[in-house]
Amino acid sequence: MRILFLGDVVGKPGRRAVRQLLPRLIDREQLACVIVNCENATDGAGIDPNSARDLLDAGVHILTSGNHVWRRKEILGYLEHNPPLLRPANFPPGVPGRGWLVQETADGTPIAVLNLIGRVFMDSVDCPFRVAEGLLSELRARARTIVVDMHCEATSEKGAMGWFLAGKVSAVLGSHTHVQTADDCVLPGGTAYITDAGMCGPINSVIGVDRELAVRRFLTHMPVKFEVARGPVVVQGVVVEVDAASGHAQSIRRIREVCET
Ligand SMILES: [Fe+2]
Ligand SMILES: [Fe+2]
Repeated sequence: MRILFLGDVVGKPGRRAVRQLLPRLIDREQLACVIVNCENATDGAGIDPNSARDLLDAGVHILTSGNHVWRRKEILGYLEHNPPLLRPANFPPGVPGRGWLVQETADGTPIAVLNLIGRVFMDSVDCPFRVAEGLLSELRARARTIVVDMHCEATSEKGAMGWFLAGKVSAVLGSHTHVQTADDCVLPGGTAYITDAGMCGPINSVIGVDRELAVRRFLTHMPVKFEVARGPVVVQGVVVEVDAASGHAQSIRRIREVCET
């Protein structure tokens, strides 16, 4: 069974590229499940209901997110309808939405997806390691295949989560930095790992942001309103092959496709 995970979708260019490429990718890779991080899908910051529907209509099965998930207040009402859109599970108890879900593929195979967020150089939320550990038995009772989106700034924290969950989940896939790393591997026990899947956003940019605006902020330290960059878009992520019977990952392969529109 093949699962596609795409890194953070940045603004309209990112959504357009996913919409354009996904049908071909689903067909070419024979994908059973598509998981996409959507935290930057609306104008580069946050996710609103229209952007979420846009991605789900494009063929995405499950949306994950991260630190920018609350940037659009319209998302709060949308989350009440229980869409397949996750926010990190280690956010404070009682906040809207959910941090994990189980969804069946077309052939009825259940896949659990867990969204976590790191704490190094980020807000000090609950411990992602202890929250993951606390949820494992419930997730494993519901699905053999478990995919974790570890949304995180520090490579060390993501690497530690990979080893912490090695042999316990099918994949630990990093998001948030928007830069695809070249360390994809299958850890002992059958856990696919990559420090960062990358992004779906404009190539000639600073992690998706208009480069002139990003440079200006670094030069001046003045507030600068960021805008999503224009031009060709890169769609980055990984395809993970999982043995559905055991939940063990057999391989992980990076995807990098360029979309000119
Ligand atoms: Fe992001
Ligand atoms: Fe993020």
